[in-house]
Amino acid sequence: MCRVAKNFRFKGWLFFKLWGKISTSMTDKTAVITGATKGLGRAIAEIFAENGFDLCVCARTEADLDAMQEEWKKRFPASTLFAFPADMSKKSEVMEFAGFIRKTWQQVGVLINNAGIYLPGGVSDEREGTLETLLETNLYSAYHLTRALLPLMIPHQSGHIFNMCSVASILAYPNGGSYSISKFALLGFSKCLREEMKTKRIKVTAVLPGATWSDSWQGASLPYERLMQASDIAKAVWGCYNLSDAAVVEELLIRPQLGDL
Ligand SMILES: NC(=O)c1ccc[n+]([C@@H]2O[C@H](COP(=O)([O-])OP(=O)(O)OC[C@H]3O[C@@H](n4cnc5c(N)ncnc54)[C@H](OP(=O)(O)O)[C@@H]3O)[C@@H](O)[C@H]2O)c1
Repeated sequence: MCRVAKNFRFKGWLFFKLWGKISTSMTDKTAVITGATKGLGRAIAEIFAENGFDLCVCARTEADLDAMQEEWKKRFPASTLFAFPADMSKKSEVMEFAGFIRKTWQQVGVLINNAGIYLPGGVSDEREGTLETLLETNLYSAYHLTRALLPLMIPHQSGHIFNMCSVASILAYPNGGSYSISKFALLGFSKCLREEMKTKRIKVTAVLPGATWSDSWQGASLPYERLMQASDIAKAVWGCYNLSDAAVVEELLIRPQLGDL
């Protein structure tokens, strides 16, 4: 871990110690979002902040987290943002992030397992190690963080977990390779978790977006209207969150109006 990150974490802990003395209120208006500095995660963070949630977010790039915190103070003064640098493909860093959350909050209302990467390639021609990288980033991250945070949901018999799957969770396509395998697996994880959490009154939603403008589409020469907006996904997630206690959206499949690319 780089020196800057260590220092950042130390400052985070210090901040927690001070903050913890004045506010450790137990509330379900708390959301954890992984990979929240850009794209879908960022749009989802914004909609929850607009609605008065406090947020604990992570990403790998500290400069982006710092910039996000500065922006938050101006745009969402009613939302406290805790920003933690973590590479979610590494179990040790997932556990550090989870430890920070457990020390900061007594309850997690919403967990959005969003961090993920796309590496193109087919099973026959992708680089050695691609499957491992994609499983670690797109699947194990969500599995380990969820397990670590369930103790902040189960005792309250409340909570909502969103897993950012993909259309690639139900459809194989050229150049999809290990990305698609990892997203099929994430959907499998969501289904297992959904069954297990039914009686604990914790909702589980698998989000399956099609092509959505974000950094991962940088350089694509496609008409703007051909892809969805990250805010479309955020609005759909927010809608799912706001159903009555009696209802859960198990799978949210959302595609561009003109279909898959
Ligand atoms: N955009 C689409 O068309 C689309 C469609 C279906 C599903 N999805 C899924 O939606 C999710 C978000 O995608 P996006 O398009 O919004 O991506 P994006 O614009 O590239 O943003 C990804 C976010 O995740 C963070 N991140 C990436 N790897 C990470 C890691 N190992 N640990 C911690 N944070 C990490 C990034 O920050 P750092 O780089 O600083 O870490 C960034 O904040 C992914 O799971 C993706 O598979 C996207």
